[in-house]
Amino acid sequence: MAQEKPAAEGLSIGIIMDGNGRWAKQRGLPRTAGHTKGAQVFHDISLYCNELGVSSVYFYAFSTENWIRPAEEISGIMRLFGEYLIKALDYEKDNIRLKFLGDRARLPKEYQVRMDDLETRSAVKTGMTLNICMNYGGRDEIAHAARTLAQKVKDGQISPEEITVEAMAGAMYSAGQKDPDFILRPSGEKRLSNFMLWQAAYSELIEMDKLWPDFTRADLDAAIAEFHRRSRRFGGV
Ligand code: FPP
Repeated sequence: MAQEKPAAEGLSIGIIMDGNGRWAKQRGLPRTAGHTKGAQVFHDISLYCNELGVSSVYFYAFSTENWIRPAEEISGIMRLFGEYLIKALDYEKDNIRLKFLGDRARLPKEYQVRMDDLETRSAVKTGMTLNICMNYGGRDEIAHAARTLAQKVKDGQISPEEITVEAMAGAMYSAGQKDPDFILRPSGEKRLSNFMLWQAAYSELIEMDKLWPDFTRADLDAAIAEFHRRSRRFGGV
């Protein structure tokens, strides 16, 4: 019998893809093998989110702090990301809008060109927005937004009083998108690790004792069901 799909229409979901290294270690494999499997799971879960009618999904792929990892591991993740940038052209048939959040200046120039191209090509899409957070840091994003607005004040375009919560939200990499309704962290850790600090103000945090490379569509169904059991008050009663 076909499994009933969970109610996810219009939801916004953040996902911290954690546990790739431990998954590889458990199998006596190099850490990069965990990232390779993690990238496959990322692709499948992103397609599943679209099938479920999710409005925005944010995947944490590489943080501003991840540069301190061994060079071999960094180049492994960058290679996977580069391969994905080519494969993502397949999304043309999928009504998915692609966005890359983070500081791309530190990424290879040819990646930056492909990222711009994918964003431009997919901007006309009306389905889910798939956000890939690459060289992304929540603090870096807030500082970036503050610099953008400070420059506008300096240029006389706005007054300091116009630096409101709404103006800040509009200067984030995620401008115009819904804040995550919930942030999912597999691998048993209970931290945000600099992920979407501004947008997470009222996100439900759902952690799961499963490593990302083992994560399945059924696990996402379970996370969505858990989200629906939560009572959200947004500061009210
Ligand atoms: C965290 O697990 C994972 C990362 C830092 C990298 C995630 C990257 C990918 C899934 C692949 C590349 C992305 C795309 C979009 C193709 P960890 O290494 O910190 O795991 P550990 O805590 O078990 O060591």
